[in-house]
Amino acid sequence: MELTHPRLSGPRTAVVWAALRRELDRHSGSAADEGTAQEPLSILDAGGGTGGFAVPLAEAGHRVTVVDASPDALAALTRRAAEAGVADRVRALQGDADALAGFVEPASVDLVLCHSVLDVVDDPAGVVAAVAAALRPGGAASILVAGKAAAVLHRAITGQLAAAAELLAHPEGRVAERDTVRRRYDADSAAALLRAAGLDVVEIHGVRVIADLLPAAVADAHAHAVVELELAAAAHPPYRDIAAQLHLFARRP
Ligand SMILES: C[S@@+](CC[C@H](N)C(=O)[O-])C[C@H]1O[C@@H](n2cnc3c(N)ncnc32)[C@H](O)[C@@H]1O
Repeated sequence: MELTHPRLSGPRTAVVWAALRRELDRHSGSAADEGTAQEPLSILDAGGGTGGFAVPLAEAGHRVTVVDASPDALAALTRRAAEAGVADRVRALQGDADALAGFVEPASVDLVLCHSVLDVVDDPAGVVAAVAAALRPGGAASILVAGKAAAVLHRAITGQLAAAAELLAHPEGRVAERDTVRRRYDADSAAALLRAAGLDVVEIHGVRVIADLLPAAVADAHAHAVVELELAAAAHPPYRDIAAQLHLFARRP
């Protein structure tokens, strides 16, 4: 499957896929410049879950290792990879995202994905250090985290004013009760986490700036226009900074 397939371009993930596509195109461009065939990339998806990113990347010809703590998620991933005909390019391994060295050679991976994981793990700095150590020099990391501002605004506009105030004041951006994540980020705190692990932050985009503000029926009826608006707004504060998620693209020097 081409990575431009419409299934991969929904409003909720279009900005992330656009960044990943730029990285993959960069590799194919270098291979073309050197007159060589493009080698499949070695990709690691830390906390990759059921393979929403891993399987399409394998379908595009790359070798993907998914390390996830959940056996159920890995079972679903394995089924999905088999159904897509890419079981031979997807490795599903149960383990902790802060112990990636047990699964891949240090400094060997071209691209690491770590999406919606730093929001929930015990030790986000340990996970980012493991991601950085897995990357070869020049390799890239695609990191997706929950945005704090969007969560505050969402609670406020749905009338949960006390929860909005609590989340705003909390240093890690969570509420004590019924929260789905352990921490949320803004662009500065997420970038600082990556820089502390020695990564260069190359781009920061907002993901779901617009899509989450619309009723589902409106978003579905105007999917193309919403994607265009997401892509146009993603890089620009203040739109970027009120996105439901922040996508950081970073590189190991
Ligand atoms: C919200 S899901 C995101 C899945 C996937 N990255 C995506 O974007 O669709 C979080 C995933 O992280 C996994 N996870 C949570 N803590 C983990 C840890 N310490 N090590 C590895 N995986 C973990 C969960 O099992 C789950 O599959």
